[in-house]
Amino acid sequence: QNISIIGVPMDLGQTRRGVDMGPSAIRYADVIERLERLHIHVEDLGDIQIERVVEEPTGKLRNLRAVTFAATRLFQVVDSVVGHGRFPLVLGGDHSIAIGTLAGVSKHYENLGVIWFDAHGDLNPVEQSPTGNIHGMPLAASLGIGHENLTNVGNYSPKIKPQNVVIIGARDLDPGERELIKEHSIKVYTMHEIDRLGMARVMEETIHYLKGRTDGVHLSLDLDALDPHDAPGVGTPVLGGVTYRESHLAMEMLAEANIITSAEFVEVNPILDEKNKTAKVAVALIGSLFGEKLL
Ligand code: ARG
Ligand code: MN
Ligand code: MN
Ligand code: MN
Repeated sequence: QNISIIGVPMDLGQTRRGVDMGPSAIRYADVIERLERLHIHVEDLGDIQIERVVEEPTGKLRNLRAVTFAATRLFQVVDSVVGHGRFPLVLGGDHSIAIGTLAGVSKHYENLGVIWFDAHGDLNPVEQSPTGNIHGMPLAASLGIGHENLTNVGNYSPKIKPQNVVIIGARDLDPGERELIKEHSIKVYTMHEIDRLGMARVMEETIHYLKGRTDGVHLSLDLDALDPHDAPGVGTPVLGGVTYRESHLAMEMLAEANIITSAEFVEVNPILDEKNKTAKVAVALIGSLFGEKLL
């Protein structure tokens, strides 16, 4: 397996400073060494350039131009990585970057599956966003819902079908997001189901569900899916999250099922972190996702 790492120092999809340093923090936590120990060939493509021009909000949307610009660049890089038969591992940056990642990946699949591991749905229709922050919209945009600059990155839309999406870890959904989930019957495992069924069963069901209907699966992992006790370095922490151990089990089961064809780890904010703990967690999860085992 050959992995290409792409850093996206994006912080314009939300308003807390510091998440642009996420890629550095994850590299500093030795992500490359960790993967090479598994005899995986890793190339680091460096960081996507982010335009930093002060802009007026477009209606409700903050930094629409710069976010779209970065998404388009990321789309091009990811498209080429997948086209060369390599595995794209994208490091964020705020979750708005998923728009570009999914644009680049989904071009290569008829029926791309998506596991959205997150405390949030990131499904806000623009008009109903409580914040105007684009990191609350990437899953909606990828489904073809939202401002056309966001839905049309890569010049095609939609990127994914609602029945190919599974959200895991949700515990903070806005009214517009709930409506959308119901309207499109999107599969969601909230913390309630994780508590009730256990993570093992949740992952078994998720894997079984996606295996039958998709030809590739993208993992979009927002570190705020984890409990803030385990992953404090995130901009929008929500109490009562997935534990460190549950998230490891999830990654190990994905590794065993061998279904993941691309991945991104986002929302690591070293300024809000405790001694780079959250970046270290991200790297540990990446290790498990790529088959790291104790024995
Ligand atoms: N739903 C809220 C919003 O629209 C929070 C989104 C948080 N998203 C994230 N990727 N951390 O602003
Ligand atoms: Mn496609
Ligand atoms: Mn989130
Ligand atoms: Mn998110």
